[in-house]
Amino acid sequence: METGEAGARCWRLDGAGQTMVFAAYEDRVPALIYMGEALPLYENLEALAASLRPPVGQVMLDEPLDLTLTPEAGRATPGHPGIRGDSHQGQNWHTQFRLTSVLTSTSQAVEFELSDSTVGLTLNIHVTLDPETGVAAFRQKLTNSGGRPYAVDWLNAACVPVPQHLVQHLSFEGRWCNEFREQRADWQKGIYARECRLGRTSHEHFPGFVALSANANDLEGQALAFHLGWSGNYRMVAQELPDGRRSVQYGALLEMGEVMLSSGESYETPVLYVAQSSQGLSGIRQRFHAFLRSQILQVPEWYKSRPVHYNCWEAVYFDHSVEKLSALAEKAADAGAELFVLDDGWFGKRDDDTSSLGDWFVDENKYPQGLTPLINHVKSRGLRFGIWFEPEMINEDSELYRAHPDWILHAEGRDRMLGRNQLVLDLTRSEVQEYLFERIHEILSNNAIDYIKWDMNRSIVLPADQFGRPASNAYVQALYSLLGRLRKAHPNVVIESCSSGGGRIDYEILKYTQRVWLSDSNDARERWRMQAAASLFLPPEVIGSHVGPDECHTSGRRLSMNYRGAVAASCHMGYEADLTVLGEKDLSELKGWSAFYKKHRKFMHEAHIYVHTTSTQDVIAMQMVSRDRDQFLLFVGQQSVPASSSTSALRLAGLAEEQTYTVSALNAEGISATANRVLAGVDWREHSLTLSGASLMRAGVALPIQFPETMLVFEGRAERDR
Ligand code: DGJ
Repeated sequence: METGEAGARCWRLDGAGQTMVFAAYEDRVPALIYMGEALPLYENLEALAASLRPPVGQVMLDEPLDLTLTPEAGRATPGHPGIRGDSHQGQNWHTQFRLTSVLTSTSQAVEFELSDSTVGLTLNIHVTLDPETGVAAFRQKLTNSGGRPYAVDWLNAACVPVPQHLVQHLSFEGRWCNEFREQRADWQKGIYARECRLGRTSHEHFPGFVALSANANDLEGQALAFHLGWSGNYRMVAQELPDGRRSVQYGALLEMGEVMLSSGESYETPVLYVAQSSQGLSGIRQRFHAFLRSQILQVPEWYKSRPVHYNCWEAVYFDHSVEKLSALAEKAADAGAELFVLDDGWFGKRDDDTSSLGDWFVDENKYPQGLTPLINHVKSRGLRFGIWFEPEMINEDSELYRAHPDWILHAEGRDRMLGRNQLVLDLTRSEVQEYLFERIHEILSNNAIDYIKWDMNRSIVLPADQFGRPASNAYVQALYSLLGRLRKAHPNVVIESCSSGGGRIDYEILKYTQRVWLSDSNDARERWRMQAAASLFLPPEVIGSHVGPDECHTSGRRLSMNYRGAVAASCHMGYEADLTVLGEKDLSELKGWSAFYKKHRKFMHEAHIYVHTTSTQDVIAMQMVSRDRDQFLLFVGQQSVPASSSTSALRLAGLAEEQTYTVSALNAEGISATANRVLAGVDWREHSLTLSGASLMRAGVALPIQFPETMLVFEGRAERDR
């Protein structure tokens, strides 16, 4: 095939039914020219590159401006550049990198090395394609190979082109107690950017983004999804260029002067994860879940079953007494809990949220004999023991602050801003790291503690280190290093990432932690929506979900135990309420949901997840299909009053077409006789339904009409399984 003058050098990666093709024209920065369903191995990549290279129109520069992995202003990129910096007071901003070598080139990884000898920079671009899951990982490293310092303002982990048929995008916004709100919009010419400057992934700007075809839903259509593995400030730029091309760039957001490279020093971007699907959002979900399960999470053996938690926060808040907590542990054990987590309030003089952060010593007034009597009591009931820390923070009213007022992130001479009465410790100082490591290490070493809930309850603003330099980036790196050191010293201790609920959730923090606290809202209705949305990136076993009090503390809503139990049991189940005041009916229902969770958790935590939502969003259903497709669970949550006077058939997913399944309602007592005057088709209270996977997926099932804020759970089993 004639490739004409476009003649490009090309590389390809293949795995899990996916192909990625890169092309470099002349010796310039390579571009990702294709990411999608597998191409034949014999494909002529140079011809592909030629076929995709757009013509140059009138009144344009005389050469094509390729959308490379790092678009350069110095090559007149028509859009947002992938690199910005300066080594000579404004004179060396215009890089023109040349490809000098390809350090790795296998079917699963490629590493390009480029250099700009005028500015004095070396750029390494790494890309891998996971052969099991098809998830691609991009990162870049910039090294100062010249003599003068180089200030990095921005370096993208990659610029990924978005194909023309993906005309819409989906992103996430939110707030405390209302995380993971989806917003879908059409691409338009110009830039849609998200910048997070809150020092954590934040409730407001979860670092995830999806480009989709107009018809894309959970099961159909094309999608290309992005997630930045980074727990701090970031920038995402989704742009449609004047010539119609679209792309997405992600990278850490750096403040002016934050990364200053001396000769020989390097800056490395966080990792950008990208997955592609031709089966709608569920295809993205399956890839990301499999990737997180196999490549990111490191879970100690004892925690693999995801034991049922009991967390005392909403039962006692700061009002700790060994007696009360022991009584709660007994009730929790009786209901089915397997891990007791002692939340905020056990240290210093922490009677409310105004003091003691930093003083990681057991409060002798509340625990005169230390934590041991409580831990022994908890363990005697067969539960493991976990404890809350908020290591990164300090209250002005603390012994630590009185001793080391200079240990905080703070710009000298600037007004300080408190959040929940607290300041942020400067983790980039080695003495701060040492103090925190020693304190946590001592508590873990002298008490039989299996679990840490690692909290972080304020955003980080004006993050100046002791020299007055911006330190957001270094702060996040220091956090990883503290977590890594603790994980190494206590490899069996599990850590949960909590940040006033879902303020710090990403794939990098999940390399050090095993569970996320999705939201401070234990309101089952809100939770159900959030769990479904977050499930695009997170499998159910990673998402902590607790049965809260009957009147929700963050919304005032009253919800039935059956509803609360089902919502919690669909993810990583726990309870967080005063169980000593629970009536018998509620206790027995809670026990029922714990038993349900324990019976199904193994399969749920390996399952393929599908989300089915009505266009009016009044029903959100989640289906979990076992890997061998012999079993499934279907949770049908009625969010609000049904939008239609009856239900239409809900089409299932992920089943074996030729397999026959028997479907039954597991909580048929929850089917309202008032809402369903006549169960005309299947009376689920007495009967099950036997149909082929093909019919269940293509025709579907008309389910009962539900009252709002209720959940029905159905189980399907392959006939040969019964
Ligand atoms: C915020 C967390 O999200 C809550 O679950 C609880 O741990 C409190 N902090 C304790 O202060």
